[in-house]
Amino acid sequence: TRHVLAIDIGGTKLAAGIVTATGQLLDSARIPTQVEQGPDRIIERVLHLSRMLLGRSRAHIERVGVGCGGPLDTKRGLIQNPPNLPGWIDYPLVQNLHDGLGLPVALENDANAAALAEYHFGAGRGTQHMVYLTISTGIGGGLILDGKLYRGKHGNAGELGHLQVRYDGPSCNCGGCGCLEGYASGTNIARRAREAAADHPESLLARLTPSLSDITAQTVLTALEANDPVATALWDETLDMLAAGVASVVHAFDTERVVIGGGITNFGDRLFVPLRDRVARRSMPSLAEGVEICPAAFAENVGILGAAAVALREPLEVSL
Ligand code: BGC
Ligand code: NA
Ligand code: ZN
Repeated sequence: TRHVLAIDIGGTKLAAGIVTATGQLLDSARIPTQVEQGPDRIIERVLHLSRMLLGRSRAHIERVGVGCGGPLDTKRGLIQNPPNLPGWIDYPLVQNLHDGLGLPVALENDANAAALAEYHFGAGRGTQHMVYLTISTGIGGGLILDGKLYRGKHGNAGELGHLQVRYDGPSCNCGGCGCLEGYASGTNIARRAREAAADHPESLLARLTPSLSDITAQTVLTALEANDPVATALWDETLDMLAAGVASVVHAFDTERVVIGGGITNFGDRLFVPLRDRVARRSMPSLAEGVEICPAAFAENVGILGAAAVALREPLEVSL
């Protein structure tokens, strides 16, 4: 059977794994991205990780799949200055991985790759129309339309984190303003929580961590579970923004299922129950009716499985 090496390059962590043709993860490893190191140094570490996995794999590996934050150009194999990977300007990721590993490499946007994994192996099975949303360091999206991943001109279709939920909102690293990611990504939930805590030093949210700079999205969840009013208000606003984004997606794509992955799924029912309700209230009833909003099947490894799905299921677009 065919096995592939799958690589997931995220704003916070780098992960790689060996995956079978049926989507079984045989081996994997992860390290922090350390974005400040810039692309060359980061790719050196990715190669190191990959060689380690290849070295201890008993199977013969024919292909490499890689998922990376966009924007990118899948045909030319370039990463084009992603909001969460500063300094990756027209970076020849495919060429460099190919040179370093001596194997053919297929590139896909990380969230598009994850959408493929959920569609083929996970929470999207049985549908023809599925939208995947990852809410982690950034917010990414992937569109399965009529049973196929929709890529657009360069592989950038589905940049759902940059749906503009406030036309006059603050500017985003992407060049737009009022982007969903600017409020509701894990990083930005944490940033808004630090601001709210600074305004309300008496709140539980402000008192849970040694210093306000230690507040993360997880701190918000802890404060929310204790019914802290500051965390509750912050989460309420976050839910409205996410619902605005998801309702727009429902209107744009008439989808059957919205699958949500990434760190935010730790919020569990505190995310999914109110989100379903708010999306229903914000959407055209005939489109929203029956739309399922559910968690991804592969919490931790969705990025690796997605990159594997790219290598396994899709023709290699780049010929070097
Ligand atoms: C990028 C997307 C990516 C997402 C998650 C966003 O900031 O624009 O391309 O999928 O982060 O990594
Ligand atoms: Na995408
Ligand atoms: Zn943006």
